[in-house]
Amino acid sequence: MCGIVAYVGDLVAGPILFDTLKRLEYRGYDSAGVALKSEGAIVVLKSAGRIADLEKVYQSRGCPGEGMGIGHTRWATHGRPSDRNAHPHTSGEIAIVHNGIIENYLDLRELLTEMGYVFSSETDSEVLAHLIHFYFKGDLYAAVCRALVHVEGSYAVAVLAASSPYLVCARKDSPLVLGKGKTAIYVASDVPALLPYTKDVIRMKDGEIARVFADRVEIMDREGQPRLAQVERITWDADAAEKGGYTHFMLKEIHEQPRAIRETIAGRISEIDGDVRLKLGMSDEEIKGLERVTIIACGTSYHAGMLAKNLFARVAGLPVDVEVASEFLNIQVRPRTLLLGITQSGETADTLLALKKAKTCGGRSLAITNVVGSTVTELVDGTIYTRCGPEIGVAATKTFTSQLVAIILLAIRLGRARAHLTPDQARKMLIELTKLPGLVQRVLEKREEIRKIAERYAGASCYFFIGRDYLYPISLEGALKMKEIAYIPSEGYAGGELKHGPLALITEKTPVVALATCGKKIQSNIKEVRARGAEVIALATEGDPDIAKVASHVIELPQTQPIYSAVLCTVAVQLLSYYTANKLGLPIDKPRNLAKCVTVE
Ligand code: F6R
Repeated sequence: MCGIVAYVGDLVAGPILFDTLKRLEYRGYDSAGVALKSEGAIVVLKSAGRIADLEKVYQSRGCPGEGMGIGHTRWATHGRPSDRNAHPHTSGEIAIVHNGIIENYLDLRELLTEMGYVFSSETDSEVLAHLIHFYFKGDLYAAVCRALVHVEGSYAVAVLAASSPYLVCARKDSPLVLGKGKTAIYVASDVPALLPYTKDVIRMKDGEIARVFADRVEIMDREGQPRLAQVERITWDADAAEKGGYTHFMLKEIHEQPRAIRETIAGRISEIDGDVRLKLGMSDEEIKGLERVTIIACGTSYHAGMLAKNLFARVAGLPVDVEVASEFLNIQVRPRTLLLGITQSGETADTLLALKKAKTCGGRSLAITNVVGSTVTELVDGTIYTRCGPEIGVAATKTFTSQLVAIILLAIRLGRARAHLTPDQARKMLIELTKLPGLVQRVLEKREEIRKIAERYAGASCYFFIGRDYLYPISLEGALKMKEIAYIPSEGYAGGELKHGPLALITEKTPVVALATCGKKIQSNIKEVRARGAEVIALATEGDPDIAKVASHVIELPQTQPIYSAVLCTVAVQLLSYYTANKLGLPIDKPRNLAKCVTVE
């Protein structure tokens, strides 16, 4: 996730910007840069790679700059990691750093190019620098206000102009915090960067724009009215602050899911057309000609692939084979098959190898990944980025739900191109999709209820997760999470398969998590395990009149379409395993024997 910092004060800005940028390193980055005010001009230093290396360049140049500057760590979303794509971006005497996604950047880029602006990067952010430059007539605040009117999407920005006595910051759907020092104002995306300098912070609200001087901040609300800034005293230590006050990165990342899903969707849906905009590198004619999809993935990403199986069949009329990458041995991919690699890291050796092998059979290929410029993107014809920021906890959480959302977007696009889905049907799915972040938030609000249940069964020696249809892959994912972070042997099973063997394992000591938000059939499976003495934790839809009669505990989830219910159930099972592992005192962010990225076969 990108990080922004800025400084206005009585010291030279450079060393402070580098130090604060390093304190945002934990968010992950691939390039960094600073813009410093120096003798009436702006000096920009930026490059792909480490902040420490850039700092050495700064020092070798004699530490230029005065008491005002902005800095950025970039985690690529539009355009690969490179020196050119690193921030700050400049236009004349304007320099900007930006977090977020400018959804209409292509339209703005076209417009600005017609006006004579020359772009030097592939980023969405550069349009902001030129737009602000276009409006800048000596009043930086006015220019930023006018420019932001044209911007659709999310942003946290810090803007510097060589001739302006103050900085301008603004935010919408991306965090930005101001820190109040004795003789300086600090700006950062996150509190930890500020803590060595000040514990007095002001959180900017959505839609606000601020003028930042060394001795004061003037914050204006959406209507341009001044807001009296409330200063908050931070009492956390730096370690807790990195995790945003959460006890573990995994818990933080679970809570980031509403935002992650919003980013995955941003700029990609058109409710009016009832369609999805994705750069697949394939024409509608080619999509119409497809006969199958072969999905290749590992672990959690494989579970995402399994969900795609039923969805693509229903929505796009396409049969799907889902292959565990390490077992992709002598499989012949038939002609007219779309290959889809799903890998959050983009670097999983088994997935890359299987994709390479499959590609030798010809056909079009796509990847769903979270890492811009990762190896998988070089292997395929088109990539759908999940854009949910780096995931630090080893167990995949937000990257998984964002994969599910990317799969839903892809299914709709394929369905529309193949005329298997009418615009009206697509529209209904898309309208519900836009509500998903809010629904996920409501599941997160159940955390206390889930924690109590998790702690009650934390001593279990075996767990079962059962589900049907879209919820079957989620039962596998729930069991995987329980295994990997709570070390409890767990089985994920299709409800209907229980009676074909695993029922022998069910006793009164086996908690069974029943994913029961879709359809009534699962209730007979609940009865089967209840009859063997098992306690059942049911995830059910709010207001379900029957479920409480059969389950021991009911966690009610918001009503939605079955496919989105899979996302809601995922969040609930993530919380269940998290609180189980937490009760057991386990190293949740770094479970034993596991690595975040498996680059060996
Ligand atoms: C489980 C988990 C792993 C990964 C698997 C594939 O929480 O994270 O099972 O899903 O190693 O990784 P990617 O998606 O990077 O290919």
